[in-house]
Amino acid sequence: MIILAIESSCDETAMAVVKDGRTILSNVVYTQIDIHTLYGGVVPEVASREHIKKITVVLDQALKEASITPNDLDYIAVTSNPGLIGSLMVGINCAKVIACLYNKPLIMVNHIYGHIYANYLESDFLFPMIALVVSGGHTELVLMEDHFKFKVLGETLDDAVGEAYDKVARVVNVGYPGGPILDKMAHEGIASYELPHIKLGKDSYDFSFSGLKSAVINLYNKATSKGETLDYNNLAASFQNAVVDVLVSKTAKAALEFNAKHVIIAGGVSANKGLREAMESKMNDLDIKFTCPKMKYCTDNAAMIGAAAYFQILTNK
Ligand code: KG4
Ligand code: ZN
Repeated sequence: MIILAIESSCDETAMAVVKDGRTILSNVVYTQIDIHTLYGGVVPEVASREHIKKITVVLDQALKEASITPNDLDYIAVTSNPGLIGSLMVGINCAKVIACLYNKPLIMVNHIYGHIYANYLESDFLFPMIALVVSGGHTELVLMEDHFKFKVLGETLDDAVGEAYDKVARVVNVGYPGGPILDKMAHEGIASYELPHIKLGKDSYDFSFSGLKSAVINLYNKATSKGETLDYNNLAASFQNAVVDVLVSKTAKAALEFNAKHVIIAGGVSANKGLREAMESKMNDLDIKFTCPKMKYCTDNAAMIGAAAYFQILTNK
């Protein structure tokens, strides 16, 4: 089954041709990060216009690299939700045109399911499975009893993890997007500052990151107003330590409660080195299989949408 997958929900214009949910015949990602860096975050209006400029270029390249024509495709899959509406519309309209022109079935894929299925590009799934979804817009703990059976156990009550990383980085003025920058700094520092590890009670699978974010920002503002300098690498390490501790402990609790055979992490923050290492070590201790996506499939891409679409079709969802 050959699927052309399209992803344009935020600031990446991406297309991939994926065979049988796993074999990647092409994977093209045009990222707008350099443009949004000028504004310190994604500007929706600018993002939509960039998608319009690039969508046909990315389409041509994806088909060319896969050495196929649209006639060879079995399905067109596109991210339909969640995301920036103007950005989503560009990908969806492109998908509809191809589907109409070449008489191909169109599959609408949820972006979060795409992030989860980025893991299938690496490894088969064992069920029951626990997926920790951590991106710029979402933080969710999901139980999967089978393919395309998702039960949300908990989610963030305020900021998403990636959002907290980006906001802290903006205040401390280290650049955008904040996640990869703070991750790198964290590895050069030690967690010497005391910050809250907010767990919302031992029975809760929900998350809250705004208190932690505010604690870092207050620490920074207090020091600057007194003319003191903080050790930014140590601050990044302390922030990351608090984030990772909460994410790993809640995921481990869910894995034990639901007898998980497999734990995965998904979304942009799954690229975080500290999280990958800590989760792997915890799951090793618990003797539970742990896998994570290759770095290039952690952040937004269309190969993951092709993998999710494959199982959406197989399960008739
Ligand atoms: O999944 P994604 O590409 O887009 C959304 O669907 O939101 O995630 C982007 C988010 C950004 O907030 C970015 O700062 C974060 O993922 N991110 C990271 C790392 N790499 C990307 N956060 C922490 N550590 C990283 N290494
Ligand atoms: Zn995403």
